[in-house]
Amino acid sequence: MLAIEDLHVWYGSSHVIQGLSLTVPAGGAVALLGRNGAGKTTTLRAIMGLVARRGGRVRLDGRGLESLPPHRIARAGIAYVPESRGIFPSLSVLENLTVAARGTGWSLERVFETFPSLTERRDHGGGALSGGEQQMLAIARALMTNARLLILDEPTEGLAPLVVGEIETLLAGLKETGLGILLVEQNLAFATALADTVHVLGKGRIRWRGDGTELAGVPEITRDWLGV
Ligand SMILES: Nc1ncnc2c1ncn2[C@@H]1O[C@H](COP(=O)(O)OP(=O)(O)OP(=O)(O)O)[C@@H](O)[C@H]1O
Ligand SMILES: [Mg+2]
Repeated sequence: MLAIEDLHVWYGSSHVIQGLSLTVPAGGAVALLGRNGAGKTTTLRAIMGLVARRGGRVRLDGRGLESLPPHRIARAGIAYVPESRGIFPSLSVLENLTVAARGTGWSLERVFETFPSLTERRDHGGGALSGGEQQMLAIARALMTNARLLILDEPTEGLAPLVVGEIETLLAGLKETGLGILLVEQNLAFATALADTVHVLGKGRIRWRGDGTELAGVPEITRDWLGV
């Protein structure tokens, strides 16, 4: 579904992403792991056209996205949930969802069915939600755009273990409906539970890829590139 080939990103004279290749098969879940500053967020922003790419290809179902601006990349079928979650704190839950609607995505009924906790909070302000509810709302907003691929930047950051479990259940359910998922994480257990394939990014390059459960068998990778 998503194919990234030989991606390069520079910040000034700093070569932050150095020839990254990665694919997300249709309906598959892929995780991108790495230490602070490894280049995970930059990779996601480069896919969305939010930072300049220098060289490389980014394709969704065979269609090149390189020349499209961010809003057209989103419209092509990729929903991006940034680390900041990007919800409007002064709007209600319902308003956050309706401003994101494009007429082609999920109905409000389907969203509220999938996210019962948001139903109870539909008239609350986005800023009054708990961290877990805000993450749920951010994901729900993304689904209103009818994305085929969901990209998430550290969705479990700062959340209590119980809430992390809820997010995991939710994403596993979405994956079962055929939604592709590209996940950036520092939470190894969460990423491994959800993703079919795990990529370890270190200093702008993929250092290892495979089934997350096999990471235990490569202590040099986890030591050098994950700091575990
Ligand atoms: N706007 C920017 N200008 C210059 N350098 C940047 C910019 N954004 C990020 N960097 C640098 O690029 C590198 C990769 O950053 P990035 O945010 O992609 O890492 P990350 O893997 O997402 O880290 P974290 O786990 O802390 O979120 C880091 O060295 C960072 O300092
Ligand atoms: Mg980051």
